[in-house]
Amino acid sequence: MGASGVPATKSGLGSTLRRDAWWVEVLPVIVVLGGFGLYATLRAFEGKFYEWGPYLSPFYSPLIDANHRWWKLSPAILILGGPLSFRATCYYYRKAYYRAFFLDPPSCAVGEPKRKYSGETKFPFILQNLHRYALYLAIIFLAFLWKDAVQAFFFDGKLGMGVGTLVLLVNICLLTIYTLSCHSLRHLAGGKLDCFSCATFGKPRHTAWRGLTFLNERHMLFAWLSLFSVGFADFYVRLVSSGAIQDVRIF
Ligand code: FES
Repeated sequence: MGASGVPATKSGLGSTLRRDAWWVEVLPVIVVLGGFGLYATLRAFEGKFYEWGPYLSPFYSPLIDANHRWWKLSPAILILGGPLSFRATCYYYRKAYYRAFFLDPPSCAVGEPKRKYSGETKFPFILQNLHRYALYLAIIFLAFLWKDAVQAFFFDGKLGMGVGTLVLLVNICLLTIYTLSCHSLRHLAGGKLDCFSCATFGKPRHTAWRGLTFLNERHMLFAWLSLFSVGFADFYVRLVSSGAIQDVRIF
């Protein structure tokens, strides 16, 4: 029986007794996630228009060997593994792209391709279990992006604010909330614990766990909002840096 209460069918890809438009959920994932993947890849390999004034594109942060002393390709490639591993192993994104791109299954109670099922117990999908370590890596990247957001308030050493400052600030706030809503982080705070009052630091852990649970229940929303914001922040820096638009100074 599928999660929707409809009996699952075994008669092949796409077969179902469901009468609703189940595929409507899959299409936006294909378009948005696929589009973002394409855009991010092109931008990472472009290797230019990634900074302007105090603004640095999040795709290139932290900026390593921008002068190509020892690394001849785009500096974005040096740091791509960090954010990519965090998103790619995210519990929510796994569900989304398994359905949209692997059709495995395309949706609840909808037939999947006939192949031997080994879940995430074999290579390469067993690597998904590294998500908790990708979380530690993501927290390091957040620190760099916060530094970039603060730096975006200083124009030639003087305090100021432009539209780009706000774009970078909103982006890092959304990325932080997305990270805080991570299932692995919630597990770190309160997982494997039956009794908070019996545990060391039980009270603060319980408070943290409740706060993280609130965010975790909205993880899908933050996953999408932060994806849009990081893409837009890069796009904005690219437009300003290439001269396609001018940054507006607020003060
Ligand atoms: S589960 Fe989505 S970021 Fe950790």
